[in-house]
Amino acid sequence: MPKTITITGAAGQIGYQLAFRIASGQLLGDKTKVNLKLLEINPALEALKGVAMELEDCAFKSLGEVTITDDASIAFGGSDFAFLVGAKPRGPGMERSDLLIENAQIFSIQGKAINHNANKNIKVLVVGNPANTNALIASANAPDINPRSFSAMMRLDHNRAIAQLAKKTSFHSSLIKKVAIWGNHSTTQYPDINNALINSTKALDLLGQDWVRNNFSPAVQKRGAEIIQARGLSSAASAASAAIDHMNDWEMGSDEGDWVSMAIPSDGSYGISEGIIFSYPVTCKDGDYSIVQELNLDGFSQESIKASELELLQEREAIKHLL
Ligand code: NAD
Ligand code: LMR
Repeated sequence: MPKTITITGAAGQIGYQLAFRIASGQLLGDKTKVNLKLLEINPALEALKGVAMELEDCAFKSLGEVTITDDASIAFGGSDFAFLVGAKPRGPGMERSDLLIENAQIFSIQGKAINHNANKNIKVLVVGNPANTNALIASANAPDINPRSFSAMMRLDHNRAIAQLAKKTSFHSSLIKKVAIWGNHSTTQYPDINNALINSTKALDLLGQDWVRNNFSPAVQKRGAEIIQARGLSSAASAASAAIDHMNDWEMGSDEGDWVSMAIPSDGSYGISEGIIFSYPVTCKDGDYSIVQELNLDGFSQESIKASELELLQEREAIKHLL
């Protein structure tokens, strides 16, 4: 049975990576046929036509039909998986929350289009910034879809944290487990390695708290800005890769004995306000996710997590007219 996959902003930097990787089978395996529905704003349709031509030229075995459109009701028609990427990126010196008002409307319109046109079991990943609150807007505008179907991307932060630990310890990233990112995809996020294992040894036994607080955390929290500084553009290939990791684990299951970080509607776990799209450590199985429970959070962790929650509550307040 072919799967329908929607990518918004498909002619943009991230979309251009994502479409080809998904078409080649990297999301669902090359035995599952995928039909791509690519959404863009009208002025970018010509560029999107070029993307469709290139997809055709790859002759991917797992690619079925490609639809290009500027009509959200067509783009989300029968959609099983949606990557909401289309949104303005920040430039140097900006915070992601500076994009809130400008991008919010997009997610309200697309939430409604998902509600009316998508498969009711759709899985939605919001990438466009500020991703957590945009996911909240999309979900609130899709009352007939289970809010658990809406998530925002923290996997890039999760992968960045693993990469920093691998670089510091010289252990391969595949040997690093149980890293967690809590909160918002912003500089208030809390990268937590209190339970992390590096080659089966407790990460904190290898790395001092000093390095963790003064080097590791800021490096992960500010990596997006560092990339923008270096490239003049925000991360794209790494973002597309993280988006595939997120959706692939959600659908196919996360690795046994490990966690991933996903921003999902809070159910009140760890005292976080219900409903905001908050990143937790989760495990995925049978197409669903569960928050890792009963972790001991020390005072510093609790304070850091609360600060990120507060930021998300403030973002929610700023767009409450769209909920
Ligand atoms: P980009 O400017 O290269 O591409 C965005 C595309 O979206 C453009 O082609 C634009 O025409 C399109 N678009 C704008 N409004 C649209 C709409 N209403 N419907 C459909 N398409 C629309 O930007 P990019 O580098 O691909 O980044 C996209 C978004 O992803 C940005 O908001 C960026 O900040 C965010 N981002 C998030 C993460 C994360 O970890 N969550 C990582 C990287 C980038
Ligand atoms: C990232 O983390 O790379 C993205 O959110 C882009 C940005 O604005 O930093």
